[in-house]
Amino acid sequence: MTIQWFPGHMAKARRQVTEKLKLVDIIFELVDARLPLSSRNPMIDEILNQKPRLVILNKEDMADPVMTKEWIAYFKQHGVEAVSVNSQAGSGLDKIVKAAEKILKEKFDRMRARGIKPRAMRAMIVGIPNVGKSTLINRIAKKNIAKTGNMPGVTKAQQWIKTAQHLELLDTPGILWPKFEDPETGFKLALTGAIKDSILNLQDVAIWGLRFLEDRYPSRLKEKYGFNELPENIALVFQQIGERRGCLSAGGEVDYDKVTDVVIRDIRTTQFGRLTFDVPPEKA
Ligand code: G4P
Repeated sequence: MTIQWFPGHMAKARRQVTEKLKLVDIIFELVDARLPLSSRNPMIDEILNQKPRLVILNKEDMADPVMTKEWIAYFKQHGVEAVSVNSQAGSGLDKIVKAAEKILKEKFDRMRARGIKPRAMRAMIVGIPNVGKSTLINRIAKKNIAKTGNMPGVTKAQQWIKTAQHLELLDTPGILWPKFEDPETGFKLALTGAIKDSILNLQDVAIWGLRFLEDRYPSRLKEKYGFNELPENIALVFQQIGERRGCLSAGGEVDYDKVTDVVIRDIRTTQFGRLTFDVPPEKA
């Protein structure tokens, strides 16, 4: 991603989402299933201002499935419906329509009771960069080629993707900004590729990733780099990965930049299996 978030950008992004809110019945808040909290926009509740919402945990294929279940339960406990999908493969999309119908049932029942002709539910996807907004929109669009024209009464031209299942989706997503003032959140966003590599010190990102694996998935870390037992401190883990993976400088010393690249690439390409970096607050 190439977006640098400055206050002006944030205000503009917020304005664009706010303007479109009135066009839709429900917001699909897309998050990365590996980071169900850290990939949420910090001001989302304020921005959405009570608009009905479905949280969609995307990239479920990369996240720890047990944790994904726990996260869905966590959101439900907090009064927010949530589903998990894999937009790349297009699996789980039916769950989105079912959940939206459930959330909007009362509103549509009320409309029917007042004699208003039933219409499709209207939705907009919002989320921070790289959570898969375009992929999901393309998936839905591909399945449902018929696009509606501009909506009558809508001043700005908006394209809607009409799905077979009483759902119309705005074809442009609302892009919100991630929060990375908190270093921990920044490391998680960097490890999933949600923020640019130049924003953080990559060695710090790799070390945070190794500490996380050591803490939550130690057997996968051992297996991947062939450790019988993990060295006693993270500096030694780093050093020994370098030796084992041949990350050496011309003089034969371990090259920490090369180790950094290996560790980050291995995490991003699911070499440690499916990982979830955020732990539900009650379980942390
Ligand atoms: P955005 O609009 O929210 O910014 O995200 P976008 O759809 O561009 O998706 C960002 C990256 O995430 C893309 O990979 C996309 O393929 C991948 N992605 C989206 N949904 C899923 C999913 O459910 N599972 C997995 N595993 N990946 C997903 P990329 O490497 O940037 O591009 P490409 O490899 O697809 O070309």
